[in-house]
Amino acid sequence: KKGFFTYDPGFMSTAPCESKITFIDGAKGVLLHRGYPIDQLAEHSDYLETCYLLLNGELPSKEQKATFADEVKKHSKVDDSVAQIIKGFSRNAHPMAIMGSAVNALAAVYHEETDITSEESRRVTAYRLIGQMPTLAAMAHKHRQGEEFIAPDADLAYAENYLNMTFGTAGQSPKVNQVLAKAMDRIFLLHADHEQNASTSTVRLSGSSGTNPFAAIAAGIATLWGPAHGGANEAVLNMLEEIGSVDNIDTYVAKAKDKNDPFRLMGFGHRVYKNFDPRAKVMKQAADEVLSELGLENDPLLAIAKRLEKIALEDEYFIQKKLYPNVDFYSGIIMKAIGIPTEAFTVIFATGRAVGWYAHWQEMVSAPYKIGRPRQLYTGYSKRDYPA
Ligand code: SDX
Repeated sequence: KKGFFTYDPGFMSTAPCESKITFIDGAKGVLLHRGYPIDQLAEHSDYLETCYLLLNGELPSKEQKATFADEVKKHSKVDDSVAQIIKGFSRNAHPMAIMGSAVNALAAVYHEETDITSEESRRVTAYRLIGQMPTLAAMAHKHRQGEEFIAPDADLAYAENYLNMTFGTAGQSPKVNQVLAKAMDRIFLLHADHEQNASTSTVRLSGSSGTNPFAAIAAGIATLWGPAHGGANEAVLNMLEEIGSVDNIDTYVAKAKDKNDPFRLMGFGHRVYKNFDPRAKVMKQAADEVLSELGLENDPLLAIAKRLEKIALEDEYFIQKKLYPNVDFYSGIIMKAIGIPTEAFTVIFATGRAVGWYAHWQEMVSAPYKIGRPRQLYTGYSKRDYPA
């Protein structure tokens, strides 16, 4: 007989996990960050302002926002010891493996000065994490390309800085830079937080032991990497490329409906949303804008994605199973248009989600907490004696 382990991410130790950060209504396709709907934040806010909101519970004043952005910039350079670790990887190392190691290495760099019980120490740790995730993402990319690292540029806004460190955008047309930076910022914003998903629950559970916050975040990166979670954006692009033409869509839709076929339509379905993922709607609009600005509106992969979405939304099976496009369905198309390698898509997801992981960790350690201790339903042997 085999035992099995069930873990309800909402159940931690003696009490269900409580949080004030993000609210999801899966049936209605609603996502609120500190009460603000995600589509309004995507339209009127930006990533750093949303970071401030998630961490502090309120939107910042102009001055607070400027100070927050300056502090993030001040803490965006990566320590040389971590740069050496990144340089030690092979050129074809998966960038999520690099990110997990690099973020865990931040625990080594800052361990002596990280005091979980100090609000000021927690604030500086937030600046370091939010500031260095894009720098690490760019360094992982540059290392894999065999190119020199580009240092953070204090004159550039958050998303522009990421694009410059990754692609060296100095010579690019200002108009294109502006379009790409806006799309990048929206991608970071739309990935910022999502309640008790697998990686956030991992960060809370590992953080509940009192471990270093960077180490807990590294555990979240490991969890996000999987294709059932954040790795889905990479899997969506691979799937669209495998489908290859709108003529082949029916074959793949049939495979997705065949219980004996392990194939799943990547970018569809969700553990909580049984309606359109509100982030997918905003992401689809951003994909249209970026591709038309870049003259790629006839991108064949976009055509396949739109046709696949139309079929899936009209198909009885998907309607009955309540399978809708999720956040990962369109994000990869935008990232591909920006020039981000497919295997680095989840690195971008992790960069945006770092603030959500941290906000949940911070919410937990800022009040009395106990180590998480999920329980199981034991279905193994009852007591029996060793044979005489
Ligand atoms: C993210 O939790 C979060 O919040 C995650 C996330 C976040 O921001 O952190 O939103 C990010 O991870 C989004 C999800 C990305 N993953 C993918 O796109 C991978 C493809 N999706 C599937 O692997 C799947 O939909 C899951 C893993 C996301 C959810 O799987 P479940 O829990 O099995 O979904 P379900 O219970 O709603 O499934 C209902 C039925 C099942 O069939 P039956 O057992 O009823 O016969 O629909 C089937 C599933 O097998 N099904 C699919 C399907 N997803 C579910 N069939 C075909 N294609 C799919 N994509």
